[in-house]
Amino acid sequence: MTRSAPREPWWRAGVCYQVYVRSFADSDGDGTGDLPGVTARLSHLASLGVDAVWLTPFYPSPMVDGGYDVVDHRDVDPLFGALADVDALVAEAHRLGLRVVCDLVPNHTSDRHPWFRAALAAPPGSAARRRYVFRPVDDDQPDQPPNDWQSAFGGSAWRRVPSPDGGPDEWYLHLFSPEQPDLNWDNPEVPAEFRDIVRWWLDRGVDGLRIDMAHALFKHPDLVDAGPGQHTEFRRNHLMPFFDQAPVHCLYRQWRTMVDAVPGERALIGEVCLFDADRQARYVRPDELHQAFTFELLECDWSAPALRDTIGRTLEAYRRVGALPAWVLNSHDATRTVTRYGGGERGLRRARAAALLMLALPGAAYVYQGEELGLPQVDLPDEALRDPVWERSGRTVRGRDGSRVPIPWTADGGTYGFAPEGAEPPWLPQPDGWGTWSVQRQTADPASTLAFYQAAIRSRRELSKGVADKLTWWDIGLDVVGFRRGEGFGCAVNLGDRAVPLTDVGRLLLTSAPVPPADESTLLPPDTAVWFVPACHDAGGHARRG
Ligand code: GLC
Repeated sequence: MTRSAPREPWWRAGVCYQVYVRSFADSDGDGTGDLPGVTARLSHLASLGVDAVWLTPFYPSPMVDGGYDVVDHRDVDPLFGALADVDALVAEAHRLGLRVVCDLVPNHTSDRHPWFRAALAAPPGSAARRRYVFRPVDDDQPDQPPNDWQSAFGGSAWRRVPSPDGGPDEWYLHLFSPEQPDLNWDNPEVPAEFRDIVRWWLDRGVDGLRIDMAHALFKHPDLVDAGPGQHTEFRRNHLMPFFDQAPVHCLYRQWRTMVDAVPGERALIGEVCLFDADRQARYVRPDELHQAFTFELLECDWSAPALRDTIGRTLEAYRRVGALPAWVLNSHDATRTVTRYGGGERGLRRARAAALLMLALPGAAYVYQGEELGLPQVDLPDEALRDPVWERSGRTVRGRDGSRVPIPWTADGGTYGFAPEGAEPPWLPQPDGWGTWSVQRQTADPASTLAFYQAAIRSRRELSKGVADKLTWWDIGLDVVGFRRGEGFGCAVNLGDRAVPLTDVGRLLLTSAPVPPADESTLLPPDTAVWFVPACHDAGGHARRG
């Protein structure tokens, strides 16, 4: 009797599509995307062939940081719908074979959260204040915050507030905007509450939770100074006293035990932004999170040696803990690849090549809404900017709005199909000609970026069967990133400025741009990626182990 290989859990090598709910589809015409809008458009995701959808926060929120300032973790903001709309979305997604991942924001709450309101209304030293990180004002230096920590959005990470009983002022910590006070994870009330929230969403039927700032939560017990380069020198993130503290791993071990006991392959997915591969991989040890975002590709230059080095180091670090990366090229926090790689034709060409590279790698992959359309970053006018970074930085950093502009579904129409006709203007303005990139137009074009993503995601599912964690480097030249995945297929990306002959490449399966036929061998043009079936399974001298 033959035994088939055990099926991989979906989170190990699946493709997950990130929906930024505010900007995906607006069903009620108020200018903001909503849950019924997402439900109505889920067929787009199904036809793309992804395994799962991750929804950014839709919880009650004053929306200071686009919903990452949560007032109630167990409800839906009327802007986005109601709890029944989550249930309907999950049901429709499951009918289409898609998993649903919701966002969990445990590092901080909104300043309007009942806990923080109670904290402000209570005196220093009270139980209510101990749920957050309050510190006394130093009488000798009343303007000096407790330490040098900076907010990721600019300025000090401390705000001074009065005591309601006329007592001394206190400082509270906010690693993001002042409207997002950090929770005190050393107070057992906080983990108890979040354990309950995780359980609550799983019981409601969601397949996973994406944990916002999963490496933050616990802070250094002495709140020691962080020094220069905070939030900018990403490579040193793991050294910051507000990140990557040991107790966070105990927490995730407890959550893992709880989540794995719930039937149905549920997953905990960490937004872990550490660039020390070994520190990063610790979050996906077998008894911790199921998956952690791997931002290495997103942060890497368009250079073959840099990419080979990054991919190799990352895979090796994850391999040592028995896990695979979850690659990310785009998100609601990053400049879109098309623009990051130079914009225009060249940017799009590189973005497509990068996507083919990402989708060929062992592990899971994330696709951010609009990435499959090749959307560029939008340069918005000052008055349209809504990201708190803009004001907090004294209007020097424009922020992330340019990757959050509502999606064009149709070639024409007031909002390019984002909202019904006659709707309020979208919360961020769409640029003229946005319909050129629309789903409608690209669906009709077999050479479109959308058709390309569909083909890549669908072929990947078949091609990567049985080669889950296999990668063998294929040495084609300094400017080419080349590798094979087991015997099945290979990928080559030319990052140089000259076409490179691909000998022994065999049959081409998919290309990110047209590849002209050559006599003796295939010529791979610059900024182009291909997937191929190797001509000869044993490439002998060509191969070196990754
Ligand atoms: C995460 C989110 C980002 C948000 C921040 C604070 O990095 O992706 O959008 O501003 O956390 O919650």
